[in-house]
Amino acid sequence: MALLIKNGEVVTADSRYHADIYAENETITRIGTNLEAPPDAEVIDATGKLVFPGFIDPHVHIYLPFMATFAKDTHETASIAALIGGTTTYIEMCCPNRNEDALEGYHLWKSKAEGHSACDYSFHMSVTKYGEETESQLREIVRDGIASFKIFLAYQNFFGVEDREMYQTLTLAKKLGAIVTAHCENAELVGRLQQRLLADGKTGPQWHEPSRPESVEAEGTGRFATFLENTGAAGYVVHLSCEPALKAAMAAKSRGVRIFIESVIPHFMLDKTYAERKGVEGLKHIMSPPLRDKRNQKVLWTALAQGFIDTVGTDHCPFDTEQKLLGQDAFTNIPNGIPAIEDRVNLLYTYGVNRGPLDLYRFVDAASTRAAKIFGLFPRKGTIAVGSDADLVVYDPSAKGIISASSQHVNNDYNGFEGMMIEGRPTEVTVRGKVQVRNGEFIGERGRGKLLKREGSYHDATQSQTNHRRT
Ligand code: URP
Ligand code: ZN
Ligand code: ZN
Repeated sequence: MALLIKNGEVVTADSRYHADIYAENETITRIGTNLEAPPDAEVIDATGKLVFPGFIDPHVHIYLPFMATFAKDTHETASIAALIGGTTTYIEMCCPNRNEDALEGYHLWKSKAEGHSACDYSFHMSVTKYGEETESQLREIVRDGIASFKIFLAYQNFFGVEDREMYQTLTLAKKLGAIVTAHCENAELVGRLQQRLLADGKTGPQWHEPSRPESVEAEGTGRFATFLENTGAAGYVVHLSCEPALKAAMAAKSRGVRIFIESVIPHFMLDKTYAERKGVEGLKHIMSPPLRDKRNQKVLWTALAQGFIDTVGTDHCPFDTEQKLLGQDAFTNIPNGIPAIEDRVNLLYTYGVNRGPLDLYRFVDAASTRAAKIFGLFPRKGTIAVGSDADLVVYDPSAKGIISASSQHVNNDYNGFEGMMIEGRPTEVTVRGKVQVRNGEFIGERGRGKLLKREGSYHDATQSQTNHRRT
């Protein structure tokens, strides 16, 4: 069915103008004024509203066996929550552990999403060990359209890789034109510090941050950058949380290392005092890298506004209160993760644009366009242009609300941002021309989402940004 969005203010990463948008067969076919539509077209009046390209969350966990349990969402629940929050595409971490077969893991993760997600999606393929079979398996996964790998320098003996394996992964990625995303914390130091704290009787969630201090993340970030520099691979630091790690990544950027930086919404909005809260409240705010000293937030916002931090993801990873209580006697057993897939866009708009240093262009860039470019989805995703998928977010900048677990769609019994004000929210959200959200409610088709195939090589994807313009 055709779709016409009328009278909105279209905002992309590099333009802002009033126009109508018309889509047919899932694709934007016309942008202009006073556009007409056939009588059976779906028409949305966007007067007084902003129209953004569908937002992209480049870092989510949905199916995740981790820390003796499983993350709570399914692709049904997570994708509906994502769409209500304006995210139309997400990239999930496919995370078989070190003892599992990577290719079997890839097919398992795919089967959890296919026919279940209402969003479009892709995967970062984790390399959690590098053995004889790894090269041929990764080649097969890349042939299936996957553009990026994931390595963990943390989580020793489970997801974590050694330096030898990081080197081999980066070398292969360079050959295949894939980009490698990395969780950068020094596993050895984390393990040693955890044991020392526990031996001193320091077992509560407030000790999680001291067990993974800023210097440990800076070391991991610097080491990853050094390996990129010496292999020539392109890399992407996930969930960068603090100033010393940012300095390590920026130093590498200034040496010409091809390194991109993601920070995630919990690190912009929450600080380590949340994990120091009494009782289960502290446990709910445990993730890795940990919530940091508040002074880091100003540094992250500034670097984001200037474009040094490329993208804002979520690291969405829901564990409910009962699961968090697995770690009530030892912080090392608290399942790591804070859910955020539903709230990322509204929080970034409210605290980044309305109350913070972001202009609307950088907001769209950080929450959509740049991820599309880095991960080979642009210009199909990440912009509003003739020929792009009709993934559109009609956004009401005058809406107000309060974040609460009682009204969320994520499958969890708490919300880490409980009580925070939002100023702005999506009213209508479309995925490839189909209205999935209307008046803020999911009214769409479950399981409609498609696995996205990378378009071109990583280089093509980044270079196309200068060639692609609205026609
Ligand atoms: O605490 C986190 N971040 N949980 C999910 C796993 C990861 O490290 O991304
Ligand atoms: Zn991580
Ligand atoms: Zn993660």
